[in-house]
Amino acid sequence: MASQYTPRVFSGIQPSGGLTLGNYLGAMKRFVDMQNTGDFETVYCMVDLHAITVWQDPQALSRNTRELCAGFIASGIDPEKSILFNQSQVPEHAQLGWVFNCVARMGWMQRMTQWKDKAGKNSQNASLGLFGYPSLMAADILIYHATHVPVGEDQKQHLELTRDIAIKFNNDYGVDFFPVTEPVIEGAATRVMSLRDGSKKMSKSDPSDMSRINLTDDADAIAKKIKKAKTDPEALPSDVDGLADRPEARNLVNIYAALADSTPEAVLAEFGGQQFGAFKPALGDLAVSKLAPISAEMSRLMDDPAEIDKILRRGAERGREIAAPILAKTYEIIGMVR
Ligand code: TYM
Repeated sequence: MASQYTPRVFSGIQPSGGLTLGNYLGAMKRFVDMQNTGDFETVYCMVDLHAITVWQDPQALSRNTRELCAGFIASGIDPEKSILFNQSQVPEHAQLGWVFNCVARMGWMQRMTQWKDKAGKNSQNASLGLFGYPSLMAADILIYHATHVPVGEDQKQHLELTRDIAIKFNNDYGVDFFPVTEPVIEGAATRVMSLRDGSKKMSKSDPSDMSRINLTDDADAIAKKIKKAKTDPEALPSDVDGLADRPEARNLVNIYAALADSTPEAVLAEFGGQQFGAFKPALGDLAVSKLAPISAEMSRLMDDPAEIDKILRRGAERGREIAAPILAKTYEIIGMVR
């Protein structure tokens, strides 16, 4: 079945400011790995239309889009190998998003935990865009007939909904047109937790800057945040079962494993029995050695915004070459007169 589709990866990140170590390990680093396997066409997007589901300052949105593009490239995305662009420059996303608004059901959207979390108690005052967010996300993926979508754990439910939308569209119109996409949620760092509270996701919206590592942090800040990260008084266990009730310890071990392209088992084989007093400096050194070059390269790229804009325009052209025929076929299936 799947062989009818080109193996193609799509994923997106919101340009709403402040990339964290969670975005890097849960998403960007894995995007680079998938690009470099050579097994897929890879399409990566700054989802600016998603970002405006909550109000964004216009100048900040432009800056954050360029900074995110710089972050992708500094992390290892090659705009020649991958298609790299911002969503609003490929209008087919929004066009297919509208079609999917008519396929998806209100009840499906209401069950989304991110909607419930973001809209909170005041859902009547949330934007209609925020409610329909997952439907546009399905369009992002399916406008490329993407077969694989690497994301962090927090996007799992949205990807299940993407599959439901593809299946319902295919059933409603009696076609086998949209692929049922595979989420790729793999590796040690699909859910990087706060450095201050091992039960909370590391997030750019956490009020405490000490809870996260930002991709723009310098070496001193990275080392300090890891040194101050919450831990427990025990030594590290020698196997992963020993991390079961120790969320902060588990988080630091997972971060180490992901940064080192290793596994938690291998990290514990090396550090099991040692105290955090020994482990944290090793983790700090590793994090600085991997992240400081990214942050330096990001600021270098940000010195030439015209070059970034050129890359995004070129990426959008390449994106449209795939997206336009898929939209045209969708309209034909639905019966739109062309
Ligand atoms: P966004 O912008 O919130 O996050 C981008 C990516 O980073 C991952 N991530 C994490 N991974 C591990 N640990 C964390 N603490 C952490 N925080 C963030 C997210 O899982 C995500 O993969 N809805 C998406 C953007 C989107 C998209 C798409 C993704 C729009 N269209 C189509 C995939 C396919 C979002 O808000 O991601």
